[in-house]
This record gives sequence, structure tokens and C-alpha cells, in this order.
Amino acid sequence: MSRIAYVNGQYVPQRDARVNVEDRGYQFADGIYEVVHIYDGRFIDEDRHLDRFERSLKEIRLTPPMGRAALRHVLREVAARNRVREGIVYMQVTRGVARRDHPFPAKPVPPAIVVTARRAKPYPRDAEGWAAAAITHPDLRWARCDIKSVALLPNILAKQAAREQGAVEAILVNDRGEVTEGASTSVWIVDAEGVLRTRHLDDRILPGCTRGALLALVAEAGVSAKEGPFTRDDLAHAREAFITSATSFVRPIVNVDGQPVGDGTVGPVVRRLFDLFAHHVKGGLKNAA
Ligand code: PDD
Repeated sequence: MSRIAYVNGQYVPQRDARVNVEDRGYQFADGIYEVVHIYDGRFIDEDRHLDRFERSLKEIRLTPPMGRAALRHVLREVAARNRVREGIVYMQVTRGVARRDHPFPAKPVPPAIVVTARRAKPYPRDAEGWAAAAITHPDLRWARCDIKSVALLPNILAKQAAREQGAVEAILVNDRGEVTEGASTSVWIVDAEGVLRTRHLDDRILPGCTRGALLALVAEAGVSAKEGPFTRDDLAHAREAFITSATSFVRPIVNVDGQPVGDGTVGPVVRRLFDLFAHHVKGGLKNAA
């Protein structure tokens, strides 16, 4: 079955889908994207993702090419045409096609939109089987990481460094020695005192939708979580660590830079949060298709 993409108003076989060589996304990374997890045909935390998509577009002064209801329809149509009941949907909007010049096009051009979907491996069965290693890496990104821009070069270089060291994620550390986030995930620890911590939201990290959903779930479950800066040193002394994202869910990190986190096995807090989030994904009736 050939994959189908939505490109500027049309559903086309993905192998025939084309982007103009002067698309500003291609030339300048002048665009915004989102990734939403689909489980059993449901779009997990969809409203959080669409809120963030709209906010990112606004921050770079790009008008959404369609309203939210129309976009929701396109996302479902692309998932259905690709027979994706479990996987991801990807959406991207760029500032359109214009003769190469840094400022916005003087004569307005329509933004370009692409939506694709693909199947993913089944949801991980348990926290143990999903545990992985990470490395630390300098955070070389710009000062507006709260915007989900398609400009991902520093993230890609960090992620590749991780892969080359047998790790799934690069945990980014800024000039002050603070952990900001992962190359494509939010980072959490259970510190040496047993406190669940993740960095506060500011312009140095993406406001992760999974992060937001999990914070709400832990609050409901009566677990306290502290949002604030923590350092590479706090990570080195942490009892437990994990990452979250639309494609990682809650993923235990049991080794960082070749050193075990805690005793190097999945700890009780991460296991509980893995289960809590799995229930949110599998049992949640919100955002039903
Ligand atoms: N990445 N931080 C960064 C830099 C990210 O790129 C992502 C998501 C996250 C987690 O956000 P969320 O929980 O909303 O997925 C944090 C997506 C999955 C990607 O680029 O593929």
C-alpha cells in the first residue's frame, strides 16, 4: 500500500509528493511542526499539540493555513488513508514559496502545509523493556527553544552523537551546567532526596505535551513534582531518570554517559509513572476520533 500525504490541499501518493525548491522551509527552516501519537485510532493529547502548534505559528508570525476543525479533519483523513491506528501523524507549516530573500515575502504567499502519518511499533509492554541509555551533550541551540521550529540541526547532531554511543537520547546541558531537555524529549529525574523534578518552562525548552499531561496525571495521583532547574550533577546523583515525548511516552533512562543511574535498574517512581501514562494513552477517552 502506498503512503498518502496531504500537501497543500491535496491527498497525494507520498512518493509523488513534492516541495518547491524555493519553499522557505527547505531554504531557511522557516516553519513549524508537530508530532502526535495515535493509539487505537485516538490522537493522544491532541488539544495540547494543536495549542502548541498554533502558538508556535503565532510566535513566528505565520497565519495557520486552516482552522483547527479543518486541521483535525485532515489529520484523521491522513491517518485513515494510511490505515494508521497506532503510529504518529506529522504536520508541518512553512512560510511558503518565494524568491530567496531573508525577510518575509513582500507580496504575501500562502503558507505551505504537509501532513503525513506512519505506523509505529506496538506500545512498550513494561517499563523494564523500554529502559534505555542516554549521553549528555552541550546544548548548542538558539534562545527560543519554546517554538517548535523545523530548524533542528543542533538536535540532530546531538542525537547522532547519542546513537554512535549506543544511546537513545542526548540530554542537553547548557553553559550553566543545567539540564535543559533531550534532543527530542523532556527530561526528568528523581533526585538524591527522592523529589521528582523536571525543568521549569522558559524559552530554553519546548513545553512538552507529554510533560504537561504527565504533570497533570501526577498531581491527580497525589505525587508532588518540582518544576525548576537541575544540573548535570543532580542528574549524576539522581536515583532515577526518564524522558518523555509523544514517541517515547515515559521512557526510563538507566545509564548516562556509561554510568548507571541509581542502581542501574528501573526505579519505583519511573515504573509507576510509566503505568500511569500507559493508562492515560490506552484508557483515556479524551480526544476520541
Ligand atoms: N519531539 N523537547 C524537544 C526538543 C522535542 O523535540 C520534543 C518532541 C519534546 C517532547 O514534546 P512532546 O511531549 O510534546 O512530544 C521535548 C518530537 C516527538 C519530535 O521531534 O519528533
